[in-house]
Parts: sequence; C-alpha cells; structure tokens
Amino acid sequence: MATNRTFTMLKPDAVDKGYIGAILEKINATGFKIVAMKMTRLTRAGAEEFYKIHKDRPFFGELVDYMTCGPIVSAILEKENAVEDFRVLIGATNPAEAAEGTIRKLYAESIGNNAIHGSDSDENAAIESAFHFSGREVFSGNFF
Ligand code: PPS
Repeated sequence: MATNRTFTMLKPDAVDKGYIGAILEKINATGFKIVAMKMTRLTRAGAEEFYKIHKDRPFFGELVDYMTCGPIVSAILEKENAVEDFRVLIGATNPAEAAEGTIRKLYAESIGNNAIHGSDSDENAAIESAFHFSGREVFSGNFF
C-alpha cells in the first residue's frame, strides 16, 4: 500500500549556512505537512548504519564524515505521493544537474555537500523514519 509520508534530513551544510527556514518554507509551500522534526547530530556509528546500503561505494567514508560534521534537522513529511513529489522538490543528487527552483539547485554546493536528503521509496521512508523518531515523536491528524 502506498504511504503518504517521506523522511528528510537538512544536512550539515544547509544547517550551517542558515538555510533551515528557507528550506522549510519551500517544503510547506509545496504542500507537505511536517509531522515530526528535530535538530540532532548523527554519531559515526549512526551515519554508517543509516547509509549502510552505500558502504561499498567509493565515497562512503566522505559521506559519513560529512553527515557527522555538524547538526542536521530530520523530519517526517506527509503529503499524497510524498516520496516521489519530495524527490522532485529536492532535485538531482548532483546540484549541477538539479532542475531550476529545486532545493538542491538553490541551496546545495556539491554532490557531496548537497543540502538535503529525501527517501527513495516508501519502504525506506518507513525504515529511515523509525531510525530517527520514536512513535511518540510523530504527530498526525487534525488538531484544530
Ligand atoms: S540516490 O539519491 O540514492 O539515488 O543518490 P546516490 O547517487 O545513490 O547517492 C547516495 C547518497 O550518497 C551521496 N553521494 C555522495 N556523497 C559524497 N560524495 C559523493 N561523490 C557522493 N555521491 C553521492 C548522496 O548525496 C546520497 O545521499 P542522500 O542523503 O541519500 O541523498
């Protein structure tokens, strides 16, 4: 069954440069509802676990170094077709190839320091969300 949630991290370069507000504004303006969010810092073991699918790729060490170099903002987002629509919003992994107006085109500096993560499937969105948040930290439904 298709889920309506995806998982994101604003990466250390985006946080350090003060882009949190601008990126969240764009996420909200595109119709995503934030149902969980926190600022945190990945441990080395945590980053290695989160990105373990890439452990044999040549950039793995660099990726772990980067993702642990400073705080990140992690969040769970709700919207119809969330995973696919969010991948469109953030743009290509390499900002040089990202479409105009996408978050990576606007705020990323390189393929390594690319500002933001978005889950690549419904299954991974659920796994990644559970990695970062307990059930009590996720808020859904209408409160008003
Ligand atoms: S994707 O989105 O999974 O299809 O992209 P992919 O190219 O497979 O990259 C997976 C993650 O690795 C990061 N990456 C890199 N980091 C450092 N150096 C280089 N050269 C590099 N290439 C890719 C990329 O940002 C992806 O991170 P996430 O957080 O999944 O977007």
